[in-house]
Amino acid sequence: MRLKDLTVPAGAVFAPMAGLSDAACRRLMARHGAAWCTSEMASAKAITFGDKKSVALLRDTLYGGPAGLYAVQLFGAEPGTLAAAIGILRDKGVAFDILDLNMGCPAPKITAGGAGSRLLLDPALCGRMVAAARKALGDKTPLTVKMRLGWDAGHLTAAEVARQCEAAGADLLTVHGRTREQMYAPPVDTAAIAAVKRAVAIPVLANGDITTPEGAVEVLQKTGCDGVMIGRGALGDPWLLERVNAALAGQAVPPPPTLAQKMAAMRQQIYDMCEDKGEAAAMPQARGHAMHYMKKLRGAAALRRYCSMLARFSDVDRLIDAVYRCQE
Ligand SMILES: Cc1cc2nc3c(=O)[nH]c(=O)nc-3n(C[C@H](O)[C@H](O)[C@H](O)COP(=O)(O)O)c2cc1C
Repeated sequence: MRLKDLTVPAGAVFAPMAGLSDAACRRLMARHGAAWCTSEMASAKAITFGDKKSVALLRDTLYGGPAGLYAVQLFGAEPGTLAAAIGILRDKGVAFDILDLNMGCPAPKITAGGAGSRLLLDPALCGRMVAAARKALGDKTPLTVKMRLGWDAGHLTAAEVARQCEAAGADLLTVHGRTREQMYAPPVDTAAIAAVKRAVAIPVLANGDITTPEGAVEVLQKTGCDGVMIGRGALGDPWLLERVNAALAGQAVPPPPTLAQKMAAMRQQIYDMCEDKGEAAAMPQARGHAMHYMKKLRGAAALRRYCSMLARFSDVDRLIDAVYRCQE
């Protein structure tokens, strides 16, 4: 796929996930075949207020290296603030390949400020957000939008939002097949994703609940989309991206990883997190990642409790010992 001047490799895209899709996680997903990886979301307004943490969150010190193509994601509700934030990122030398706009976050603390999925109630404003970002980015950098189907069943605005975004200069859309009201609960609506795909000529990625290679193939068949974005399914199982990529390319799907491979990946990921942000900051976040590696293991409930107590990197080896003891 080509987005502006950027040639994007085939394959599933790794989703933005606040608190989870940090640099270590993105590097891991890139090694397992993600076409590109997206940052955690950052606030455009906070960036314009000089918030150093927001800028640091988006700065990938290994940019251009092992993490492959990199999208940064911003959320906001005002076109001018968004444009200013992009200018600040550029001035501060935050490098990225793609800029993604968040029009899907359902969290009240984001929607209360008019951002995230709240934007879907105003398709014209969505278009103005994209136009402002496009102007600030210039013509070369791909601009993408990640959205849901609408605010609720009474406001299914995704197709109109998609048209506005395309007309204003977006290069690709990702559609999570649920409304804001649905949060993460009911099955994704593939017919509604298909309607968004039909509404625009730019590429559309389908997103939501893809956890198997067969599921990825099926969602593309049902929606006619150009690719898939995967989030939670790849947590604790980055090999899912390889299995999905093989299935989408019509190749033999590789076998799932062994327990030893999974434990080695978890240990390396948490080690990288500690290297990147220091043990004190990394370990509380590592607990969530470790829990995902416990999926489907014997004794998973007890092991997850163990994960919730990880405080030092050395605890990870004790967790791995406990995992093996539970499988005996
Ligand atoms: C913990 C968590 C954090 C998320 N953070 C973001 C975010 O920062 N930006 C965003 O656009 N979507 C965010 N999402 C939504 C995901 O990108 C994705 O759309 C959603 O999880 C559905 O895809 P999946 O079923 O493959 O995970 C988040 C989801 C989860 C579970």
